[in-house]
Amino acid sequence: MLEVNRGRSVNGSIMAEKLSVTRTAIWKNIKQLQDEGYQINAVRNLGYCLEDSNDILSAESIAPYLWGKAKSFQLDVRKTVTSTNTLAKEMAIAGAPEGTVLIATEQTKGRGRMGRSFYSPASTGLYMSLILRPKLDLNDSLLITTSAAVAVASAIEKLTGNLVQIKWVNDIFMNGKKVCGILTEASLNVENGGLEYAVVGIGINVTTNDFPDDIKAIAGSIFSKKPTDQPIKSILAAELLNNLSSSMDKLTDHSYLEEYKRRSFLIGKDIYVLKGKNAYEAIAVDIDHRARLVEEYPDKSREALSSGEVSVRQTP
Ligand code: BTN
Repeated sequence: MLEVNRGRSVNGSIMAEKLSVTRTAIWKNIKQLQDEGYQINAVRNLGYCLEDSNDILSAESIAPYLWGKAKSFQLDVRKTVTSTNTLAKEMAIAGAPEGTVLIATEQTKGRGRMGRSFYSPASTGLYMSLILRPKLDLNDSLLITTSAAVAVASAIEKLTGNLVQIKWVNDIFMNGKKVCGILTEASLNVENGGLEYAVVGIGINVTTNDFPDDIKAIAGSIFSKKPTDQPIKSILAAELLNNLSSSMDKLTDHSYLEEYKRRSFLIGKDIYVLKGKNAYEAIAVDIDHRARLVEEYPDKSREALSSGEVSVRQTP
């Protein structure tokens, strides 16, 4: 009720009547929410008002900003988890349907690509995993992650007004800093060669400004401080889900790849292609129709990478 009436007072007696509880029970619950950090003002004779700026994530705080198919997503919002991807995979194995979303305000074992960890401090980031059951074969699984990158980039751009770029495969950059990482994990159905499920995990640094030493130089946040007048994390979560739901419906028409290329941070750049312990010099020349990165080596031979890692070469 407070979420639906955000910024307006809701009368305690009306709440009590609607919920068939006493006014004292309402008061006790409001007190508990306030203790959890909810900004709720009690105004004599008017009731209780959830402040516009209150930015604690909940299914109810995200729901008003969802549209289209995303409205039917099942949102599970938790405070602290190990890793939303790890838990979402367990949920997928247990049969959770497409459109199940796990969101957390903190991760204690956030995971990144290549076995790395993902720094996930409390309250200043958004950590989310979406379960999909796409009808794709393994060869096309790169389309999920690259399409998610476009969905995320355009959501961040809409909210911040800044240019957002993608470093293949799916690192999201703003103002030269990595502000978001995406980890897509999938399970193969060995009988038909298709995907059993895919979990798209997205971690966004929203207002984090204290990064550990090893990532300080590269990591950034989408806002330098919290915008005060709106629940920015809830709006961002909804915007991501709105974009993801529409882009996941049109994965195989490949139309999003034009936007992916336009946002590419790598095309035209001198890069190192990292293979095992070796790094090879090349130029990133294109993204092909299967979202692979095409690079050209000094001998003019070309290769299309569907996985792995590249880094930008600093030219003297
Ligand atoms: C990367 O940059 O290497 C990918 C980072 C992906 C982080 C997100 S946060 C939500 C989800 N849960 C995880 O443990 N990882 C992903």
